[in-house]
Amino acid sequence: MQVHEKRRDLVANVAALKRDQKTVGFVPTMGALHKGHLALVERAIAENDIVVTSIFVNPTQFNNSEDLVNYPRTLESDVKLLSELKSNDIIVFAPSPKEVYGDQMSSINYNFGGLENEMEGKFRPGHFDGVGTVLKHLFTIVSPTRAYFGEKDFQQLQIVRKLVEIEKMPVQIIGCPIYREDSGLALSSRNKRLNEKQLKASPLIYKILKQAKKDFGTKSAVKLNEWVSLQLKKNEELKLEYFEIAKVSDLKSIKRKQKDTKYRAFIAVFAGDIRLIDNIALN
Ligand code: PAF
Repeated sequence: MQVHEKRRDLVANVAALKRDQKTVGFVPTMGALHKGHLALVERAIAENDIVVTSIFVNPTQFNNSEDLVNYPRTLESDVKLLSELKSNDIIVFAPSPKEVYGDQMSSINYNFGGLENEMEGKFRPGHFDGVGTVLKHLFTIVSPTRAYFGEKDFQQLQIVRKLVEIEKMPVQIIGCPIYREDSGLALSSRNKRLNEKQLKASPLIYKILKQAKKDFGTKSAVKLNEWVSLQLKKNEELKLEYFEIAKVSDLKSIKRKQKDTKYRAFIAVFAGDIRLIDNIALN
């Protein structure tokens, strides 16, 4: 397995492979890899000749500087985990901010057709501009055939689909199912920071989503919202930031259901200062 820190080395490596007509799968990450990331890499290995995994904690997508400082940085163990997949077809790209952004680390101001203003967009101003900007840079450097994203960040996934449309980038975006602990907690690099009590409380998030899915046919969106707020008020470790039932197409939150429309429920919760998000398809 090769690890490149320099943009030019990665570009030269991928260019040589592409000259040989090899397909390139790309799994962008911010490191602190877990089984969910490894599942994306394994899928990318199965569907492409080679796989590039980037490990880069992107400063422009953090609207909270403490979150950026506290974000786990575990390059050595990340590389070890990837090497345990025993594939000769993985290339790791672990650049510095300068290698990605050059001398000017700033975000492009994107219009993702309103997707950026819903849910995470409301609570994390500038976040999706940062995600869009770093992915534009990374897609340019890696020039992947396919790129893989987890559905845990479903809003991000929809925005990435929009990004490649706006930037006219010839990469196929592939969404992959949420990977969960046996407890139901969606895997996230932030889970490493949960203390024992928070970890014990956190399965409630998925329990609530599953119940909301069960009740979606019979209860109104308003009633479900009230029920979710109540469940979280009763819990001392978790604090609800938002629960929304939204259309898959534009991620707009709904009060009333319509026929022939796909919906998902989205939730964001704080455990102490650790922010956890999750979502579920409702129909
Ligand atoms: O989902 C993430 O880990 C990040 O938002 C991504 C896609 C790697 C961009 O920094």
